[in-house]
Order: sequence, then structure tokens, then C-alpha cells
Amino acid sequence: MRVEVFENYAALSGRAAAIALDLIRRKPDAVLGLPTGSSPEGFYDLLSRSNTSFRHVRTFNLDEYVGLPREHPESYHSFMSKRLLDRVDLEPANVHIPDGMAADPEAECRRYEEALRQAGGMDLLVLGVGHNGHIGFNEPGTPWDSRTRRVKLAGRTIKANARFFGSEEAVPREALTMGIGTIMEARSIILLATGESKADIIRRTFEEEPGINVPSTVLRNHPDVTFLLDRAAAGRLGQLVS
Ligand code: GLP
Repeated sequence: MRVEVFENYAALSGRAAAIALDLIRRKPDAVLGLPTGSSPEGFYDLLSRSNTSFRHVRTFNLDEYVGLPREHPESYHSFMSKRLLDRVDLEPANVHIPDGMAADPEAECRRYEEALRQAGGMDLLVLGVGHNGHIGFNEPGTPWDSRTRRVKLAGRTIKANARFFGSEEAVPREALTMGIGTIMEARSIILLATGESKADIIRRTFEEEPGINVPSTVLRNHPDVTFLLDRAAAGRLGQLVS
């Protein structure tokens, strides 16, 4: 695992964007795995303002809420449209986000895995991390061989995401998410974490015995993962690394 610590959010976002853009220049039809949340907002902004073409790039989002229409302002479809898809020349046919309104969610998850397989898997997956260590919507207790499937959100995740919905009651209770097994097959992973509120989970990710109770610890078994952290999220780790 590599760790890079940045003075501020802009520098961290710049590094994440440079990694993705460098890949796209080398491999114009790269397959990107993409997150939502606050952490990648700066990353998306920089991608959108670069002059790199996304014409042949393929994207697969990590997750989507169950039961939110695509047009809902807090659906991950809306998030991605606003942050990236409406701003770059990605081909709609190359953009994949799980359909949280699918009549048959299990079939939708199987279809999603198959589309990812046919694309040749992810070259680069960008991740955020929840306060409880969730990656995608894989909450504590998720088996490490899990694939894309329907999941229930943890109480802590519902609380954390209430800020986007105005109240806890309005947060969907379920999501479709890539599994941990799916995530671990990405050839390269970067994880973005910023702010003091992430310092505890970052410390646990590095120091605790890897296990399913802290999903992010699985990344210690991945051959090519880089943590991009700001000083606040790095905590003590920041002093060791820089
Ligand atoms: C959400 C998403 C995750 C994301 C996490 C952290 O629940 N499903 O993919 O990584 O929250 O979000 P943030 O970056 O806003 O802290």
C-alpha cells in the first residue's frame, strides 16, 4: 500500500485527477470505477475542466440507492450527471451505474457484473471510505467474496448521508453496490479521504487486524492501492509518511 499525504484538498484532488488523466492518455478506452460522496467532488471538477477526451473511456459506478428515481437530486445518477457526465464527452453507452429502480434487482446486479466482465474489468477504481470503513456500500460484516448485490445501509451510513436528504427518514434504506470481491479485482485502486472525521477509520484501516468488521482493511491485500489523504485524515500517519 502506498500513502500520499497532501497539505490540502485541492492538492489531493489534483493528484487523483492526474492519476486518472495519465491513465486515459495512455489507454484512451480505460475502464474507470467511480465513487460518489463529498471526497471526489474536487477530482470530478478537475477531470471536467481538463482538455482530455473521454470519448472512449468506460465508467462503472460503485453503487446506487434502491428506490430513488434517476431524476431525484440525490440519486447517484444525478450526482454523476452534474459532476461529470454532463461536462465531458463520455458516450452515454459507455457509462454504467446500477439501476436502483430495476424491477428485478438481483437480475440487475448480475447484468452489471456481466457488463463489467465484458469490459475487461476496471483499470483504475477510485474509492472513498465511510466512517465505519464501508467501501461502496459494503458495510461492516460484508464477506470479502461478495459481488454486486442489493444491501441494507448501516444506521451510521444513514446518519452520515442525512445531510444530503434533509433528514434521516428521507435516506433510502437499501442500495445496489459492487461487492468487495468485485472491488478487489480492479487492477489499481486509489482511495481518497479528507478531514478529521476520517482520521479514526484511516488509522483503523492501517492498524487493525484485517477482517470483515472493517471493510476497508481488505485493501491491505490488494497489490496496487494508493491512499491519498489530507493531513487531517492522515492523523499520526502523516508524520510517519512525510
Ligand atoms: C457513501 C458512498 C461511498 C462513499 C462514502 C463516503 O455512503 N456510498 O461510496 O465513499 O459515502 O462519503 P464522503 O466522501 O462524502 O465522506
